[in-house]
Amino acid sequence: MADQTRTLLRGRLLSFHACPKGADDTAAYTYVEDGALLLCGGVIEACGGFGELSTQAPEGVEIIDHRPHLILPGFIDTHIHFPQAQVIASWADQLLDWLNDYTFPAEQKFADKAHADRIAAHFYDALIAHGTTTAVAYCSSHPNSVDAYFEEADRRGMMMLGGKTMMDRNAPPGLCDTAQSSYDDSKRLLAKWHEKGRARYVITPRFAITSTPEQLEAAGSLLREHPGCHLQTHINENHNEIAFTRELYPDAAHYLGVYESFGLLGPKTLLGHCIHMTGHELHVMRETGAVAVFCPTSNLFLGSGLFDKSGLESAGIRTAIATDVGGGTNYSMLRTLDEGYKILQLQRQRMHPLTSFYWITLGNAQALSLADRIGTLDPGTDADLVVLDATATPAKALRMETVTTLSEELFLLQTLGDDRCVVETYVAGTPQKDGLSTLTG
Ligand code: GUN
Ligand code: ZN
Repeated sequence: MADQTRTLLRGRLLSFHACPKGADDTAAYTYVEDGALLLCGGVIEACGGFGELSTQAPEGVEIIDHRPHLILPGFIDTHIHFPQAQVIASWADQLLDWLNDYTFPAEQKFADKAHADRIAAHFYDALIAHGTTTAVAYCSSHPNSVDAYFEEADRRGMMMLGGKTMMDRNAPPGLCDTAQSSYDDSKRLLAKWHEKGRARYVITPRFAITSTPEQLEAAGSLLREHPGCHLQTHINENHNEIAFTRELYPDAAHYLGVYESFGLLGPKTLLGHCIHMTGHELHVMRETGAVAVFCPTSNLFLGSGLFDKSGLESAGIRTAIATDVGGGTNYSMLRTLDEGYKILQLQRQRMHPLTSFYWITLGNAQALSLADRIGTLDPGTDADLVVLDATATPAKALRMETVTTLSEELFLLQTLGDDRCVVETYVAGTPQKDGLSTLTG
């Protein structure tokens, strides 16, 4: 039976209901200066003012006082590579060289379950340290790595999405599966993990370059057989990638047409990058409801290009934001927002700080079709939370002296913030930071 012990958290609450158009759009968010959350059995039971909730709470309830810090829904990272924890910060050229020189060698080590287990402990510690409570990951092509990934998530009670990377060509033999084995392994792993506790399986063909048509066909079969699952892949990240894809799939009308022809597109499809999109591709994206995932630190690091948020959104395309570690250079969704803001600035698209924090919480939850469980402080949803301190270092504290509004504080957190601002991370109502099993940084 679930633990019915109640805890009352006190702090400044911020939760979104929709994408805010600006600070005046108060219908889009709730901010409570002296707020409280009543937690029970891993779920938010009530959310409101401290005065009101403390009189409703049962006598002797444990009160954790996080004042003056902000309490938000835990951050959601919609695209990350679990086997790239030792690839991050590799001095490489652009995408294809980076994959061949650093990424594929590192991912081969995940054939060893002990290695996968060790990296999983570090990987989850890094997420927690940075305030991320849900992520969508590519595991390696080895089924072992998927077990390591979900076993560790299960131990920590985290809602994590992920799957075995399907890849049967243009990679070293130690990483290549076959169309049939990738289908069989994915099917078995899906049966083992999907909706076991908080786990969600994601069908994961890496991208068109590393999949034969037979393998993409197998991925399409898996999605048809399991329409409740997500599917993730990469698209239109890099010009050489696009040219190579055209050579491999000469009959496709465009890159997205490759995935479309195998039935891979739908509202649970997550397409990493979407930088160099054609008008036809935008049309197909909108029609299918697939999500474009912005990976700013990766796009800058690999010199891939500038994600056109407003172009995609005005074409009716759903968007999400993610770290893409280890092409991405930080686990922090705050650092990710900062780099994303600059990419948008270069295109004269100015993102409001409230929009930023909506995006890494409710926005990403909506992109994953999981907003009924995560991404808000709404009663009845899972108590995955982050507690943020905008004064965590002397430079931040000094800047905070002149901050007078919530929007300014959020912008400071986004621009200067990192894991040092994360005071606590709650997973299903349980504080995690004391229990980190490895050192992180
Ligand atoms: N495209 C195919 N695989 C990858 C990957 O691991 N990282 C990035 N950034 N792009 C990819
Ligand atoms: Zn990626």
